[in-house]
Amino acid sequence: PKIAIVVPAAGVGSRMQLSHPKQYLDIAGKTVLEHTLDKMLHIPAVSMIAVAVSEQDAYFADLNINSRRIIRTPGGQERSDSVLNALNRLVEYAPDWVLVHDAARPLVTASDITQLMTQCIHKGQGGILAAKVKDTIKRGNEYSLGTVPRDELWQALTPQMFPFEALRAALKSALLNNVKITDEASAMEWNNEPVQLIAGRSDNIKITTPEDYALACFLISQQQK
Ligand code: C5P
Repeated sequence: PKIAIVVPAAGVGSRMQLSHPKQYLDIAGKTVLEHTLDKMLHIPAVSMIAVAVSEQDAYFADLNINSRRIIRTPGGQERSDSVLNALNRLVEYAPDWVLVHDAARPLVTASDITQLMTQCIHKGQGGILAAKVKDTIKRGNEYSLGTVPRDELWQALTPQMFPFEALRAALKSALLNNVKITDEASAMEWNNEPVQLIAGRSDNIKITTPEDYALACFLISQQQK
């Protein structure tokens, strides 16, 4: 099958309180986004990679990216807008499947990606990498209103892999109906489409806070050993 990738990288990283977005932080001599794109370029059989980048972004043009398989697409207001823009651009390549992977997750492993792709293609249904929740989860604000049973709870990771046109249609209709979409799977769920949960490594973290960045630096140094 023909496979495309979308890498949403148009966030401003406000939770990091930094002068520049988190996808351009340096880890071991390369930006987070370059680490992520290196991983994407090593996935076999991928035809095109669309990177959603904000139009105000002054860093992307200076990256050391020399693959003709990578194209830049304009970012949107929300992550889901960035992804839908990129999908619309990829229509001309007519992919069968698309993997969407956060720019801010440079730690994903090749073996987790292979697991996800094998399972989705074998079943003919989309799916996401996910990790079982390990902590005890509370609901509430100032006081706990109760404990949520965690045996059915998963943390949604990326990549998320779906049939290309099904995801594009699902995102379009979810956005038209003002549904709050924080990952691709939520758009598919809203459209009553199946989403397989494929157990992935919990160290496939999304760099959001300074603590995540410190941990990512350590984990990359371990991966490079
Ligand atoms: O903000 P959050 O951590 O959820 O962002 C996840 C990913 O989505 C990041 O890689 C970020 O760059 C991207 N994003 C985007 N367009 C937006 C907001 C976030 O591509 N409008």
